[in-house]
Amino acid sequence: MVSLTGKVVTHEGIEGEREPQLEFAFDFAAKPRGLFITFEGGEGTGKSTQLRLLSEYLHDMKVNNLMTKEPGGTELGSELRKMLVTGDKDKFDAITECLLYYADRRIHLTTKVWKALNEGIWVLSDRFADSTVAYQYYGYDRKVSKETLDDLYKIAVGDFKPDLTIIFDLDPKIGLERSFKKSLGMEVKETRHESRGLEFHNNLREGFLEIARQNPERCVVLDADKSIEELHKDVVKVITERFDLAQCRK
Ligand SMILES: Nc1ncnc2c1ncn2[C@@H]1O[C@H](COP(=O)(O)OP(=O)(O)OP(=O)(O)O)[C@@H](O)[C@H]1O
Ligand SMILES: [Mg+2]
Repeated sequence: MVSLTGKVVTHEGIEGEREPQLEFAFDFAAKPRGLFITFEGGEGTGKSTQLRLLSEYLHDMKVNNLMTKEPGGTELGSELRKMLVTGDKDKFDAITECLLYYADRRIHLTTKVWKALNEGIWVLSDRFADSTVAYQYYGYDRKVSKETLDDLYKIAVGDFKPDLTIIFDLDPKIGLERSFKKSLGMEVKETRHESRGLEFHNNLREGFLEIARQNPERCVVLDADKSIEELHKDVVKVITERFDLAQCRK
């Protein structure tokens, strides 16, 4: 625990001037260790559909897995989700919005994701930190600096990162049309981001592609302009080429 004076307090007492460390950081040494896979991309690119299909596929392959999402992957986080994805697009300034996303992320990691991974369960997350960079840095006109976003990541997430990120790439005109159609059947309209203009969504798409270029080992971009079944095959190909499922069976 970190004391108010900034000294590190352990069960043996105050340890001196050591830099305070991230509390409850992810335990990288823990065994077993599930894989953390994130699905990213603009609105209506098929993330949730493909995540569900991958989860079913892994289940059939006898790989224990947990589907989750950001924002709102936890009970507490679902309150934050409601604030973040509904209502007026300009109701927060950009920094407030980032802090809310990171509060949700921290709750999600510390109460759900890390626990599952440490039990050997794969965690499939519908969006993660790349979405914050894509929306708040590449997408918005009033950008939050990359440095601020990197600092927030360091504070809330530490050195932890996804084992694989699949980015679904699609012309926003197609994605937005799908999203609006989907929202017609929703009781709570989660269309706060959809209501930003096409320029925003084009920047967002470019932002995700730039993130993929900057993180070639972690990210794979898939062309999402395909049928649901074809795209699912591409997802499975990426997963089976990267990971040995036989090693991860229950
Ligand atoms: N490959 C596809 N071809 C046509 N329609 C699709 C395809 N994939 C998904 N859809 C449909 O498009 C809509 C949006 O898909 P989905 O919810 O999976 O996207 P998403 O990326 O999770 O969207 P959001 O960003 O809004 O969460 C859904 O109604 C879904 O059934
Ligand atoms: Mg979705």
